[in-house]
Amino acid sequence: MADGHDGTTSGETAGTVVESHASTAPSSGVAVERADRIANPGFRPERLRVTDLDPAKERQAERTVSGLFLLSVAGSVLAVVAYVAFPIVEGEPNSIRLNNLFLGLGITLGLLGIGIGAVHWSKALMHGHELVEERHGTRGSDDTRAKAIEVFQAGNAESGFTRRRLVRNTLIGALVATPIPAIAIFRDLAPAEDPVALLKQTMWKEGVRLARDPSGTPIKASEVTIGSAFHVIPEGLSELESHKLEEKAKAAVLLMRLPLDRLNERDDRKGWSYDGIVAYSKICTHVGCPVALYEQQTHHLLCPCHQSEFDVANHAEVIFGPAARPLPQLPITVDEEGYLVAQSDFAEPVGPSFWERAL
Ligand code: FES
Repeated sequence: MADGHDGTTSGETAGTVVESHASTAPSSGVAVERADRIANPGFRPERLRVTDLDPAKERQAERTVSGLFLLSVAGSVLAVVAYVAFPIVEGEPNSIRLNNLFLGLGITLGLLGIGIGAVHWSKALMHGHELVEERHGTRGSDDTRAKAIEVFQAGNAESGFTRRRLVRNTLIGALVATPIPAIAIFRDLAPAEDPVALLKQTMWKEGVRLARDPSGTPIKASEVTIGSAFHVIPEGLSELESHKLEEKAKAAVLLMRLPLDRLNERDDRKGWSYDGIVAYSKICTHVGCPVALYEQQTHHLLCPCHQSEFDVANHAEVIFGPAARPLPQLPITVDEEGYLVAQSDFAEPVGPSFWERAL
């Protein structure tokens, strides 16, 4: 034992240090036993509430709680009705305002009804006396489990969860009704039409002219010089009334002209190009970024997202990177006025893989 530098005494036994302080602050890492502990003042006397004293007030509180839970049910129903009654119409900002207003009001009522009802239930009807909960180990011993059951049963008896059937059933109704707006809203995220068919078809079909992106002006074969690359959309895309972006995301194409002696065409695709002009989907087969970089000397297309590289001279096959398939080719020709037109839609789905894709 030795005197401390600040007047305290300390002892050391088998590596454990214990200090005794009268009122000075302890140093870190030392167990402290205070000499001036404050005595436990105990509980304040319980103050009975009006619902404890008057059975009529108790019944009134019970009705209020149930009313709040019913209000929550009404709010959830209102949210679903509002979602259907005030649909969002493209190009009408007022429809978005009405939809958000009533949907928000419904969900707010649904959540507030449960929250306020539960708080009022606990404040007005559940027992209000204070309890001491002794701390104990968290081992799952038999005693602990028995105690947990005891506490649960006491809570059940005090809250009246099984006894007050009206409150309990309206709470269950409110809890069941609250997620219903979420189900309705999330269900609507799925496309109304068959998504597999939507992924397999684009706007391209026989006779649709190839047009510049974004101006929409059609392209003549004579305008496509060797080394140039055109970003292409189907003519008429900008006049679409709805789903313009979705259609563009599938139909975007890159158009290039290669010297005929550089183009290696398979027999079954000999007629898909026009005088060295070829058109390939611009949507990367890895995860769908736009393949926008054309290297005119090598005739390679580069996807900037993860550096997949496609060889235009060889049916856009993958020569580097994580893409698993070549870019789909759009069969093209020219019409009687010399404008480039599609012969048909793509022969395979564009973009990344999806579960129902055959290949
Ligand atoms: S999206 Fe093109 S390489 Fe990843």
